[in-house]
Formats: sequence, C-alpha cells, structure tokens
Amino acid sequence: MNKQTGILALTLAAGVLGLAGYAVANASRDAILQGYAQQAGVSSFSAAAGKAMFLSTNTTGKPETPSCTTCHTSDPTAAGKTRVGKPIDPMAVSRTPDRFTDPAKVEKWFRRNCKSVLGRECTPQEKGDFITYMSSI
Ligand code: HEC
Repeated sequence: MNKQTGILALTLAAGVLGLAGYAVANASRDAILQGYAQQAGVSSFSAAAGKAMFLSTNTTGKPETPSCTTCHTSDPTAAGKTRVGKPIDPMAVSRTPDRFTDPAKVEKWFRRNCKSVLGRECTPQEKGDFITYMSSI
C-alpha cells in the first residue's frame, strides 16, 4: 500500500469507527486497546470505570500525587500541569488526537503514573478502561 492509499484507508476507517461513536478513531489506538483486551481476557472496556479511576483519590502511592487529577486536572478536556509547572496537553482524545497512539509512550507513562498515584502498576483492564474513557469525551 503506498502512502496515499494508506492515508485514505485510515481516513475511511476513522470515518466508519466515527459512526460507531468514537471521538477520533485511530488504528494505532485501536490496536493498543485490542492488546489490553487480550491481556485482560475481555471483549470490551468501561468508560465509567476509567472515569472512576481517573477521579479517585488514593493513599497507596506518593503523598504528593494522590490522583491522576493532581497533574491532569479533573477535566480531561483541559490542559494539565506537571508538579514543576510544565504544561500537559489535555488527555481527552477529542482535544489531543494523537493521545494513546504510541505503544511505548502509553506503557511508559502508565507505568510511571500508576506507580506514583496507586503505588502499583495498572492492570490491562484499568489501562483499557482509562483509554476508553479518554476516547469517549
Ligand atoms: C505527576 C504528574 C502526573 C500524574 C499524577 C499523572 N500523570 Fe499521566 N502524564 C503526566 C505527564 C507529564 C505525561 C507526559 C506528557 C504528555 O503526554 O503530555 C503524562 C502522560 C500520561 C499518559 C500517556 C498519554 C499518551 O498520549 O500516550 C498516560 C496513559 C497517563 N499519563 C495516564 C495517567 C494515569 C492513569 C494517571 C493516574 C493513575 C496519571 N497519568 C497521573 C503526568 C502525570
């Protein structure tokens, strides 16, 4: 497939998935989600569970980062801020379309942030729920 055909195919796929209710569909993001579904042994994820984890306040991680919202704010469509004040693009796919499209980046930040906030790594189910929530708003 040449580059233009590839772009056309992706655009068409995005259009079809768009009808299915995704804010901004993306083949790489779908593949990442499929990988988590396989690892978790489930066929779908819960945006509500992802939202609950995002908003939860925890005591099992570092005291200075009790929640994902500590840096990402409680509004995923708004820009966040690191603890030293560096801006973070919104987590919502509708605002930052290339979110959750690079598997290495996704894994790196889940590992780091889940450890800081929860004191452990997130499960494949939690990762899938989180990305599903961020793709739904
Ligand atoms: C200490 C601040 C901080 C906290 C707390 C935090 N994050 Fe993040 N997060 C970041 C930064 C910084 C980035 C990388 C910059 C970017 O992607 O814009 C990031 C990126 C990510 C990414 C990668 C997004 C992508 O585009 O691939 C994921 C996934 C993520 N965070 C999930 C979480 C989850 C889940 C929690 C709560 C369990 C959380 N974060 C809590 C600072 C934080």
